[in-house]
Amino acid sequence: MKKLFTPYNKAALQLKNHVVMAPMTRSRAIGNVPSDLMATYYKQRSGAGLIITEGTSPSPEGLGYPRIPGIFTDAQVEGWKLVTNAVHESGSKIFLQLMHTGRIAHSSNLPEGYQVVGLSAVKAAGEIYTDTGMFEYSAPTALDEEGIAHIIQDHVKAAENAIAAGFDGIELHGAHGYLLEQSLNPHVNNRIDNYGGSIENRSRLTLEIIQKIATSIGADNVGLRISPFLTSNDMPAYAEAEVHETYVYLAREVNQ
Ligand SMILES: Cc1cc2nc3c(=O)[nH]c(=O)nc-3n(C[C@H](O)[C@H](O)[C@H](O)COP(=O)(O)O)c2cc1C
Repeated sequence: MKKLFTPYNKAALQLKNHVVMAPMTRSRAIGNVPSDLMATYYKQRSGAGLIITEGTSPSPEGLGYPRIPGIFTDAQVEGWKLVTNAVHESGSKIFLQLMHTGRIAHSSNLPEGYQVVGLSAVKAAGEIYTDTGMFEYSAPTALDEEGIAHIIQDHVKAAENAIAAGFDGIELHGAHGYLLEQSLNPHVNNRIDNYGGSIENRSRLTLEIIQKIATSIGADNVGLRISPFLTSNDMPAYAEAEVHETYVYLAREVNQ
């Protein structure tokens, strides 16, 4: 406890204290654009040395919940500047969490003309809220190879946009059953190309995204959130030994 309010100093990150605020979706981004209301919310919490923002989509297809923010348009970048300025004024740091919801989505939450996508066409069991009530998750369209390349590029551009908006770094949401964990899970990802099958292949999407983002904005500015044994958001459990092997492989490769 004594350490909690003392500065944290590691080569890549200096914080005014050891308190970190966990990412929390608030669904207050009208039109998926951050606003003054959100700047006030984060400013009020800038007693923390580091804030991780709510999950923020790198692309229109990743906006599976109502009113979650994006970071792929100029208006969104401008909106996020209100937030980063407010937090920096208090001497805190702030990382943007990049969250592509994948199949944990309802099509009516997406902007006009976009569809729910996934690694495979495997629909999630359960319901999701929308502005007109609860609905079953939408059946995802499986991404083709071009779609995967697009997703990777969207994440890299989103990370660059985050830096342009004044963030100190990004956290990649590899947890909680969203797109990247959908890729890792053998029951949800049934692809037979380079992005499915073996542990190496199921890890490829996450690793390619991390590698490209690290090259672009610097490895010290990138984090990855994982939740190996969580089964929420319809993540079916698989053999404990395989989960272990998957995440040890992932961690080793990320360290590279
Ligand atoms: C309302 C709400 C929204 C959340 N949104 C996110 C999110 O966008 N990204 C994320 O990684 N975790 C999210 N979480 C999970 C939290 O970061 C945290 O891991 C979880 O609440 C467990 O911590 P706790 O026991 O202190 O509540 C959310 C949690 C809550 C309660």
